[in-house]
Amino acid sequence: MLTIAGLSRKQRERFFLGGKRLPSKHCLGLAALSAKEINEILENAVPMKQVISRDIKKVPALRGKTVVVLFYEPSTRTRVSFELAAKHLSADTVNVSASTSSVVKGESLVDTARTIKALGADLVVLRHPSAGAPHLLARLIDVPVINAGDGMHEHPTQALLDIFTLRERKGTLKGLKVVIIGDILHSRVARSNIWGLTKLGADVHLVAPPTLLPAGIERAGVTVHHRPEEALVDSDVVMVLRLQRERQRQGLIPGVREYARMYGLNAARLALARPDAVVMHPGPINRGVEIADDVADGSRAVITEQVTNGVAVRMSVLYLLTLGRGA
Ligand code: CP
Repeated sequence: MLTIAGLSRKQRERFFLGGKRLPSKHCLGLAALSAKEINEILENAVPMKQVISRDIKKVPALRGKTVVVLFYEPSTRTRVSFELAAKHLSADTVNVSASTSSVVKGESLVDTARTIKALGADLVVLRHPSAGAPHLLARLIDVPVINAGDGMHEHPTQALLDIFTLRERKGTLKGLKVVIIGDILHSRVARSNIWGLTKLGADVHLVAPPTLLPAGIERAGVTVHHRPEEALVDSDVVMVLRLQRERQRQGLIPGVREYARMYGLNAARLALARPDAVVMHPGPINRGVEIADDVADGSRAVITEQVTNGVAVRMSVLYLLTLGRGA
């Protein structure tokens, strides 16, 4: 067994001996996780981050396991970080993208799932354009399923890495004023973050044009604004979302330039936030649309930290779910 220098005995035990197990077999969304379960994943990500900070970024925790990364939509960050996370834990990985698989010949998700099961996968990571696809897969195959983004529904590991980054930066989520600004309607990142942040005690504010907000979202325990200037005052965190033009029906905004002028995060708007406020973006960024270059590249942006933390958080989820099956 590898020794991890610098970890407390408790952390070592948790990491290698399985001090804790994620109660659910799958990671489908933050709506279904308790604050305790979310904190469990985040705490387990701390030693994972120490692993990826070293020269040799590998531990034997998932040796002999096979992780299938099945993506029906494009991705850079999520796909690569899941693959790296699995490799750092010594799992074997197989990448399947819809465009190069038998999906293009008309194979259904159900048949693809049966094939993956028959090939002996130990865990499946799925991104799919339809909300609920990972839930369907979880019912069909007897291995853990991780939702890597399902339509406009949830993107749980993105929210987990966002919250992990905030915990590193701010210590606690309790009482933090978090402003989420952008295309909330089409954003699975927003939905998962709303669940996670509110469960952990953050004060969540949403800003978007009325056409880009889901009806009744206030019932999720958030405050809704239509003017960024109103929401940004004294905020601790500004989370900017991409304008998802590929999911939009026509006519939801007058135009991209108008949207950038009314809702884009620029230096003047950011000046309304607290001096120590951090700027987040899940990526990919539409520079000059939802965020100005100087803000995205500025000293208050933690966007690259989010990407790095994504590997640690996904290692944590992979480890806890695989361990939960008796690894
Ligand atoms: N944030 C995110 O999901 O990015 P990708 O689409 O590149 O995976």
